[in-house]
Amino acid sequence: KDVITARLNMAVITIDGKKLEVPDNKNVLECALDAGIYIPHLCHHKDLNPLGSCRMCIVEVNGQDGVMASCTLEAKDGMVITTKSQKLDQLRRLALELLLAGHPEDCSTCPKYGNCELQMLIQYIGPKTGRLKMRTKGFSENEKNPLIIHDMNRCVLCGRCVRACNELRGVKVLHYQKKEMETYVGTLHDRLLKDSDCRFCQACVEVCPTGTIRDKLINTDETKEDAVVPCRHACPAHTDIPRYIRYVRSGNYDAGTFPADMYLEG
Ligand code: FES
Repeated sequence: KDVITARLNMAVITIDGKKLEVPDNKNVLECALDAGIYIPHLCHHKDLNPLGSCRMCIVEVNGQDGVMASCTLEAKDGMVITTKSQKLDQLRRLALELLLAGHPEDCSTCPKYGNCELQMLIQYIGPKTGRLKMRTKGFSENEKNPLIIHDMNRCVLCGRCVRACNELRGVKVLHYQKKEMETYVGTLHDRLLKDSDCRFCQACVEVCPTGTIRDKLINTDETKEDAVVPCRHACPAHTDIPRYIRYVRSGNYDAGTFPADMYLEG
């Protein structure tokens, strides 16, 4: 009976002529990737709810008009899917060109060079940005937060960081914001992350596919603790100030008077 029940929850679909048995309702993009069939994608991330906004993952489905985003398309028994065609190439190229219209042209100045999902897509899809009117967003890079750098000029609004902050971590610090004609990702009233209840879990850094939200400590000797507790890191006497204050607050003045004790007593 268990085998029959298990089978009932499975669907047989065909992607590019390859028959696959997949869990019913699993999204087609993940079915393809799991089977080693590459479909370009950008806003999709396996740990986040699908958004279907970038249009990189479009596919054609037999019997359906137009194209569909495979990251939001649920596998149904009997589906026949095509991931490569001239039409799909053209539409993906156009979608990527529109994304790139507001993105800095020169990848080589980006700290994420060689490790950027957008750069890989550019190489795979081969957009021609020359025919578009390029624009500069005009944001300044924000390095005022500990641990995290925000460079909204490089953002393509894939929404991964917003979903990671809101849905995955439930912190709800990052939102879509508007400045004149530009949409960007930021905090309410543009507060610093440290003033917005950010936990600095860095999930937004993990999921960002471009050089927009970056780890500030990469290539430095500073640790996360140093950055988040600067009063300890920067103290010239190397006193553990947070612990010192805890001792004083609890009335343990002797321990608080002698910094050496603080380290010994843990
Ligand atoms: Fe599917 Fe972006 S990856 S629409």
